[in-house]
Parts: sequence; C-alpha cells; structure tokens
Amino acid sequence: MTRPKVFVARRIPAAGLDRIAAAAAVDVWPDRLPPPVEVLRERVRDCDGLVSLLTDKVDAALLAAAPRLKVVSNFAVGVNNVDLPACTARGVRVGNTPGVLTDATADIAVTLLLAAARRLGESMTDAKEGRWLTWEPLGWLGQDLSGRTLGIVGMGRIGFATAKRLHGGWGMRVLYTARGPKPDADRELGARWVELDDLLAESDFVSVHADLNDSTQGLFGAEQFRRMKPSAVLVNTSRGPLVDQAALAEALRAGTIFAAGLDVTDPEPLPPDHELYRLPNCVVAPHVASATVGTRDAMARLCADNLLAGLRGEKLPHPVNDV
Ligand code: GLV
Repeated sequence: MTRPKVFVARRIPAAGLDRIAAAAAVDVWPDRLPPPVEVLRERVRDCDGLVSLLTDKVDAALLAAAPRLKVVSNFAVGVNNVDLPACTARGVRVGNTPGVLTDATADIAVTLLLAAARRLGESMTDAKEGRWLTWEPLGWLGQDLSGRTLGIVGMGRIGFATAKRLHGGWGMRVLYTARGPKPDADRELGARWVELDDLLAESDFVSVHADLNDSTQGLFGAEQFRRMKPSAVLVNTSRGPLVDQAALAEALRAGTIFAAGLDVTDPEPLPPDHELYRLPNCVVAPHVASATVGTRDAMARLCADNLLAGLRGEKLPHPVNDV
C-alpha cells in the first residue's frame, strides 16, 4: 500500500512529527523562514495532507494546485491564514489546535499587561543605558492593578483564562464583549457583558482576544483609543490587524492611552525600524504566546491527531470546517 504524502511547512516538535512520519511519507520544510508561496504550492502538488502554520496562506490557488489534498492541519488555534469556504468547497478538512495553548497565551497577556502598566520595558532599557541615576520618588511611575477594571474583548477560552488570572490574582472587576453573554464568566468571575464602547470607557486594562475576521479587522482605531481612559493599557495577543497601528502609535505618543503590550503586530515580523519599538510606552513581543515547551508539544500532538484522522478520511478531532 502506498503511504500518503504530507508536506509539513516547518519543523514542529517530535511529539507530533514522529507520529506523522510513522504513518506517511513526510516532506518537512527545513528552513527557519516559511516556504515562499510558489514553493509551497509546488511542494503540496501531490500531497494528501498539509501541516500549515499561521504564516502559510492556504487559499484557493494553493488548493487548486493540490488536487489530492484531503486535510489541512493548522499548527495554531487561529485559522485566519486558511480560506475555510474554499477548503469546504473542495471537501478538504481543516483542523486547528484549540485548548492546549489557552494557559500559555493567557500568561503572556498578563505578562504584557504587567510590563506595560509598570513601564518595565522602558525602565529596564533606562537601567541598561545608564539612565538609572538614583531611586527616584517620581521615576517610572506606572499604574496600579488591584481592584481595577479589566475589559476582555472576545470572551472565548483565552479571554476567560486571562480574566480568571486577573480577577483571582488582583481582584479585578471584569467586563467583556462577546457575541452573547457567557454564563460561566458571569457566574465564576462576576463578569458583565457590555457593548464595546462601554467597555472602552470603563476599563483600566483592555485585553484583546477576538478572532480576526471581516468584522474585527481594524476594530481598534483612533475613535476607540479616544474612548479609553488616558491611564488605560491595551494588550493584544490575538492578531495584529485588529489594531490600527498608526492610530495606536499616535494614541501612545499623545498620551490618549497610557501604554500598550503587543504579542501580535501587522505585519509580522514588525520591521526593526518600526515606530512602535521606539515608543517607551509600548512593549512588543515577537508572537510568543504559545511558546513553551509543553504547549508546543501539545500543539504538535493535536496537529498530528487532526492530520492522521484526515488522511484516514475520518472527521477531525478538532475541526474548524464542516466536511
Ligand atoms: C497563535 O497565534 C495561534 O493562533 O495558535
């Protein structure tokens, strides 16, 4: 029996890759950078399965180039890199890696919130560069956290885990937006479902966890920053395009808001000369929310589960389309 063929668009942890390699003829892209679009198309031409990353665009052109493709297993929870309707139309199953990166991502959201609120990036740079002259009563003053109000934009698994940390650890009052009220959040965190405008006006910290889609692209622009408190901190660990970065830079420069912590940007990577890096009140991390040994292993295992089920023609354990 011929083994199915699979293209894996980057090296992923052995916890998943070894299982895929045991069941299929595997071609693993060896470089640190993603395969260029044309190369990706060429490599999937006779493949039955694809392991894609959030940097690999899986669109109609790629699907047309890969007539045998049965399954796309995205090594991520977000699937905005995949054209789901196009996959569904061609009967290609798509899976993602939900749940296993919830805690790691919530940890980074809290880390960024603390770092931005307490001016950690700025004060550490000052210390390293010789601007730590003495203990200053008025130096590097940040925002308090205890008992303040947290606004969660998108109360899914990661939003909930972030709110749970900040409600449990710092006694924050929690407001949230979502498509509808979330009884668990209301019951466990005393959280309140509100309109975005009210959340922006009332929150001291705003943490973004919504999916990227047509209705959330550019959700945060100049108007939203104007509605926020001048002492407010914005955290984004979802996807960069939810935030209009030029408007954010202006809001940070003008003091419309106090600070921002970003794990995601638009584009990624953010070029080293980008103005957001130069703003002392902006903390930027290179999309590391799920980057722990255990989380990436767990993602690889889920990714293999999805891929192998799809190769067998079975429903995926973690499907994102209805095939
Ligand atoms: C990372 O951003 C993911 O979607 O898993």
